[in-house]
Amino acid sequence: MTEFLSPQHHAESADARGARMRRGPLRSGDRVQLTDEKRRINTITLGTDGEFHTHKGVLKHNDVIGLPEGSVVENSVGHRYQVLRPLVKDFVLSMPRGATVVYPKDAAQIVQMGDIYPGARVVEAGVGSGALSMSLLRAVGDGGYLHSFERREEFADIARDNVQAVFGGPHPAWRISLGDFQEQVVATEKPGSIDRVVLDMLAPWECVDAVATVLAPGGVWVNYVATVTQLSRVVEAIRATGQFTEPESFETMVRGWHVDGLAVRPDHRMVAHTAFLVTCRRLADDAVGIPGSRRVKSAQFAPEDVSAWTKDHAPEEWTPEALGERGVSDKKIRRAARDASRIFDGAEASHEGFEPAGDGHDVRPEPPRD
Ligand SMILES: C[S@@+](CC[C@H](N)C(=O)[O-])C[C@H]1O[C@@H](n2cnc3c(N)ncnc32)[C@H](O)[C@@H]1O
Repeated sequence: MTEFLSPQHHAESADARGARMRRGPLRSGDRVQLTDEKRRINTITLGTDGEFHTHKGVLKHNDVIGLPEGSVVENSVGHRYQVLRPLVKDFVLSMPRGATVVYPKDAAQIVQMGDIYPGARVVEAGVGSGALSMSLLRAVGDGGYLHSFERREEFADIARDNVQAVFGGPHPAWRISLGDFQEQVVATEKPGSIDRVVLDMLAPWECVDAVATVLAPGGVWVNYVATVTQLSRVVEAIRATGQFTEPESFETMVRGWHVDGLAVRPDHRMVAHTAFLVTCRRLADDAVGIPGSRRVKSAQFAPEDVSAWTKDHAPEEWTPEALGERGVSDKKIRRAARDASRIFDGAEASHEGFEPAGDGHDVRPEPPRD
């Protein structure tokens, strides 16, 4: 029989950053989800002598620590909870956030359609709350390279703690730089040295030249944009360079199903629009691109119609508010930074085997970007 994976290979993957803290009995410092009989979820950090209080009684953390994951426990009045460590998709929706996160359904698409592979050299911007960085780091693995750029230091701090909470400490493949991507990436990365670029920001068209400089021939560029106006502008900007393949644009919608006996139907609510994805690949320097065969001739549009979608449109009108982004108050950012730091302290302690302070911490999931 052919052996595809050697025992040594198994041992190495077991040591991958963050793998150990996802296995074994529940420990002090672990984040866990408590799901009650009405399927309400509370996320807490376990700590020795800690307590989780609700109007329906008290659950002692000591009654949970040491149990296998997936146990069902009772609180002081017999209220039952199913206990599981959150998956990364759960953590992303409940973690402290400054900027809006990439929703899990889209992170999955980015990893697959962006062809992010173990060992790849990837750059991303902006880091925001670090949600996408987690998926990219898992995909490139400990032996890969992810260089993330963020212009707002307070967001980078929150992201760093969130990512470290997921991996139980600093990830060996991760580097964050502060500043504008388009300036920093060309200052820090050699021309043609990057395999994949992922941008989730307001104005990715400002980065076209920088991406063309650092991306290797054949390298993939993925853009994540929330509005149709951004989608149009970035696609036209990519085409105008002639340095990339014809951009492909798409979105995904995820509809859950209710399956119970003969009552089998789609859920009433679904995750519909979050954002659009645009992918393209870097052509070789001397190649002449092959444009889409069914392009509409620009002469068919009046200039004033086209200007609403392109770089000719007044730059001061492309504001975050005009594009539908909600501002984040300083108070909310400070709170997210405190929460992220507290969660990371717990994760680090769990990973290293230390005992952290034992108070429970509730975080309610927020909806995806609107
Ligand atoms: C929507 S958030 C990113 C969310 C992140 N991908 C996540 O999953 O948590 C957009 C971020 O891009 C940053 N940003 C916008 N333009 C940028 C640029 N040119 N260079 C670096 N960061 C930028 C913003 O400060 C903001 O934090």
